[in-house]
Amino acid sequence: MTTQERIEKMLKKSEVIIGAGGPKAIAKQHERGKMTARERIAALLDEGSFVELDRFVRHRCNNFGQEKKDLPGEGVTTGYGTIDGRLVYVFSQDFTVEGGSLGEMHANKIAKVQRLALKMGAPCIGMNDSGGARIQEAIDALGGYGKLFFNNTISSGVIPQISAIMGPSAGGAVYSPALTDFIYMVKETSKMFITGPAVVKSVTGEEVTQEQLGGAMTHNSRSGVANFAAEDDADCIQQIRYLLSFLPSNNMETAPIVDTGDDPNRTAEELNSICPDNSNAAYDMYDVIKAIVDNGEYYENQKYWAQNIITCFARMDGETIGIIANQPKVMAGCLDINASDKSSRFIRFCDAFNIPLLNLVDVPGFLPGTVQEYGGIIRHGAKMLYAYSEATVPKITLVTRKAYGGSYLAMCSQELGADQVIAWPTAEIAVMGPAGAANIIFKKQDPETQKKSTEEYVDKFATPYIAAERGMVDIIIEPKNSRPAVISALHMLETKRESRPAKRHGNFPV
Ligand code: HXC
Repeated sequence: MTTQERIEKMLKKSEVIIGAGGPKAIAKQHERGKMTARERIAALLDEGSFVELDRFVRHRCNNFGQEKKDLPGEGVTTGYGTIDGRLVYVFSQDFTVEGGSLGEMHANKIAKVQRLALKMGAPCIGMNDSGGARIQEAIDALGGYGKLFFNNTISSGVIPQISAIMGPSAGGAVYSPALTDFIYMVKETSKMFITGPAVVKSVTGEEVTQEQLGGAMTHNSRSGVANFAAEDDADCIQQIRYLLSFLPSNNMETAPIVDTGDDPNRTAEELNSICPDNSNAAYDMYDVIKAIVDNGEYYENQKYWAQNIITCFARMDGETIGIIANQPKVMAGCLDINASDKSSRFIRFCDAFNIPLLNLVDVPGFLPGTVQEYGGIIRHGAKMLYAYSEATVPKITLVTRKAYGGSYLAMCSQELGADQVIAWPTAEIAVMGPAGAANIIFKKQDPETQKKSTEEYVDKFATPYIAAERGMVDIIIEPKNSRPAVISALHMLETKRESRPAKRHGNFPV
């Protein structure tokens, strides 16, 4: 062969691989409202930045006629590129090639970018669209998944790992995303389940549709498996780019500082009247968040699940922060099992990636009752105590109103390591709520005296002053000054150094 012929051969081979499953399969993918694997990568990365790896990898399976199949790109496109100029690694499963199913070499391609991402300290983004383990490859496919799970685990807390579910994700395919930090699901086209409806019916007799069992909103609002819902592939990809703008590339860096143009000394007059005079009336914690963060902009994690607690990324004076906030509008802001799981995982992510925590507290207590007790609220609630105590990033707690009992501690009191506790004059920091206290310590009193005693309890304890007298609250501020106060605390904490005793690892209460 001449040199020119060799070049042409390479280009021809490339063309076939880039052609993926062929025009018919690509048309079907588009009909379903899905982009192809390569279109997704092109949309995700900065224009022209993608460098493909392992284009020519081929499977080694000789079972059931597979030896005759070429399977372009092994059903997955992998490589690296940039997002807003920062290095990221990416893999994108190609449903047009054997249903994006995962065989040995398909897995090896993904495992390679996982390893490179870890070595280079760059985020790893997986776009999943796959029928699961390639059945013809049997145990080799299973082993392939094992490699991915191991790499996901080793990379956890070192680099951000993001999974987009953009088609089916069934069987073992669900567990690699589950080991990553954030799962996006595209409405209507994505499904995640351990077993599909047919198996469910044969085992339990239960009839359920794919959407009910594992659709985007099922996992965003019911199971809490997914973190974000997207309208379509393009929206999903834009959201991933947006998320990355809040994050550092690895655990040795801090998130990029952005010039947001918002005045750090801006006050918010409306906060002075946000707490209703009746302390049992609700207000919207989103209004507090919007009033204090840069330009009122935030990106919410698990927006549709455990809505009694809000977790989101935002910026203050250009610096990324993670906000954990009780929502008085939902279940009066009580903590329950799901709220504990949601917040503790978010706290641990932020701590792993040097993102300071701002805790907005208005919490009447842990939700009582058999459902919660039988579900293990003790075990789940302990996660929040653990996650906050373990976290060494700057921790700022702002008590807007109620902060009662264990739930006050669970929202990061000073004893759990809050570096600064700020309170509004409306704060009520006490061992328990007035009604609960009256039922116990005033129970022998007649109703009239009990009413008076309860009022006395409210006057005495439902304030920030007892906590402030003991130094458990550092600063009491007018609510309108919350933004400058938090930003000042963040700047003060920039040089924070805190270490923990060396250990193999703690035993997180799962
Ligand atoms: C091999 C597969 C495949 C698989 C799909 N294909 N899944 N090939 N192994 N797992 C192939 C199909 O044979 C078909 O090939 C092409 O991909 C497109 O699939 P269709 O079925 O035609 O597409 P669609 O109707 O859209 O249905 C998509 C699907 C369905 C819902 C994903 O294919 C499906 O149910 N697949 C199996 C899902 C599953 O049970 N996976 C679990 C595997 S075991 P042709 O040649 O016709 O185009 C597992 C355990 C691992 O994952 C555990 C690890 C810990």
